[in-house]
Amino acid sequence: MNCFVLILLFHLTFAHFDNEINLECKGKKYENVTLTAYYPDYNEDDGYLDKKGKDLSTLQDYLDNRAEFVTLAMDDALNLPYGTKVCVPQLNQHFGHRIILQVRDTSTDLRGSGYKRADICVRSEIDSYDVTVNRQVTLVFL
Ligand SMILES: *[C@@H]1O[C@H](CO)[C@@H](O)[C@H](O)[C@H]1NC(C)=O
Repeated sequence: MNCFVLILLFHLTFAHFDNEINLECKGKKYENVTLTAYYPDYNEDDGYLDKKGKDLSTLQDYLDNRAEFVTLAMDDALNLPYGTKVCVPQLNQHFGHRIILQVRDTSTDLRGSGYKRADICVRSEIDSYDVTVNRQVTLVFL
């Protein structure tokens, strides 16, 4: 009986430890980045596609395990390779889940903003008003 409890405690402790590590983001950091949400627009010809014509991948799809990354839009002038992986500690903390974003989109709006701004793709207009995805964050390039 005692042994069982100990094993259970050991397991819980390690599960927790593992989770903490996974929520951490290691890489090159950019602080105080203004994160703004946008959403696929199915009324426009390519309003639901990224800059290479692939479907936008939303935060909600990712959280539902239906996507392997969340589309992130950034200034094209940064010349970041398509699919550059980004981690945002504030989002990981909020959702208790490691969220991987990939820079796959841009907009005229972001032109000249450099590392000061990033737009995260969410499911709908309603989701785009959530303060969680409209705030100052840290971008960590993995
Ligand atoms: C980010 O903002 C905080 C609080 O305003 C400030 O202390 C910090 O120096 C800023 N960091 C950068 C890299 O600008």
